[in-house]
Amino acid sequence: MTGSALILGIESSCDETAAAIVDRGVVVRSSVVASQNEIHTKYGGVVPELASRAHMERIMPVIRRAIEEAGVTLDRVDAIAVGHRPGLIGSLLIGVAAAKALAWSLGKPLIGVDHVQAHLYAGLLGASTEPQSDGAPKAETGDHELFPALGLVVSGGHTSIYLLRSWLELQRLGATIDDALGEAYDKVATILGVPFPGGPNLDRLAQTPGANDRIEDLPISRLSPTSLDFSFSGLKTAMLYQVRGVPEHPAHKRAESRYVAPPPLTDERRRDLAATFQRAAVRTVTLKLERALEQLRQRGVHPKSLLTGGGVTANSRLRTELAVFASAQQLTLALPHMAYCVDNAAMLAGLAFHHLQAGRTSDLTLEPVPTTAC
Ligand code: KG4
Ligand code: ZN
Repeated sequence: MTGSALILGIESSCDETAAAIVDRGVVVRSSVVASQNEIHTKYGGVVPELASRAHMERIMPVIRRAIEEAGVTLDRVDAIAVGHRPGLIGSLLIGVAAAKALAWSLGKPLIGVDHVQAHLYAGLLGASTEPQSDGAPKAETGDHELFPALGLVVSGGHTSIYLLRSWLELQRLGATIDDALGEAYDKVATILGVPFPGGPNLDRLAQTPGANDRIEDLPISRLSPTSLDFSFSGLKTAMLYQVRGVPEHPAHKRAESRYVAPPPLTDERRRDLAATFQRAAVRTVTLKLERALEQLRQRGVHPKSLLTGGGVTANSRLRTELAVFASAQQLTLALPHMAYCVDNAAMLAGLAFHHLQAGRTSDLTLEPVPTTAC
């Protein structure tokens, strides 16, 4: 495709209302994200009904702002992309309805995109909202240098490893069997009394100068020797015991199963527990990446890159350790800029460019779906 290919992306899967204009899959002309943190903070988590009402109020103003900031008019947009799965059904419905209405009224193609798959694309988006000086997008020509690729999504709802043969062909190699990593962060933040939003606040606490990341021996889940799945529930329970004490086991009244009181949760201990949890959580991820790579290489598949995305790729320690891992394994690392780690519409509009090129568009029967296809 030559010239520009402007795609308007719309995102409303959870508690962020977002719209973006992306040119040829990589040049972000605008990316607007309206967070609902202030609405959900007092409940300690996202309240689905409140989220969909807020999407309804914000969706058109957010789309209008994205168009304005990109300096284009709606009739210049080549396609409308929307994250139609996975997510909260009432939230998805708002974005899907807006996208369908725009696509129909403008007579432009509609592209339904899987939000989880789009997270894997986020590392390709440039920090700049301007086109490159030669007018050419940075990464459009580089796809052959990326695939096959190892993929990692770590978000509030998903923690999965993939093998990608192209942007549109991916195979899931492993996924969490209980909590997603972001969910574990959020729950452990609650256990430690760290305010909402838990993940970023816990990360900040863990980075406090002087924090000791080895005060306890926390479990790092491996599951079976070859498993590429994740489990974070044991780590979460271990943190609960560190804070509330080890409960007496009802089936054993022996002395060693009595309630064990925890040390007092001082500011210093809270900080050290946050750092210790962070170390174990991140190690659980790198361990599975090492395993996945080893297994792929044994099968004769040699990934050239590591594509990463999802809210938890904003995590300071994970970013550092992913860089160390990729460099040791000679993989090109696509780590999203901070703005594209958490939910945004630019990643959807970027990936949708590849759908458009492959002729994969949707019709007006497109529906929101709560689960991911990948
Ligand atoms: O991708 P995302 O915005 O939404 C989903 O698709 O789930 O991810 C949100 C998740 C939340 O659980 C949030 O606590 C977590 O990402 N998160 C973090 C950090 N920033 C966001 N977790 C750990 N450290 C962070 N810095
Ligand atoms: Zn997400």
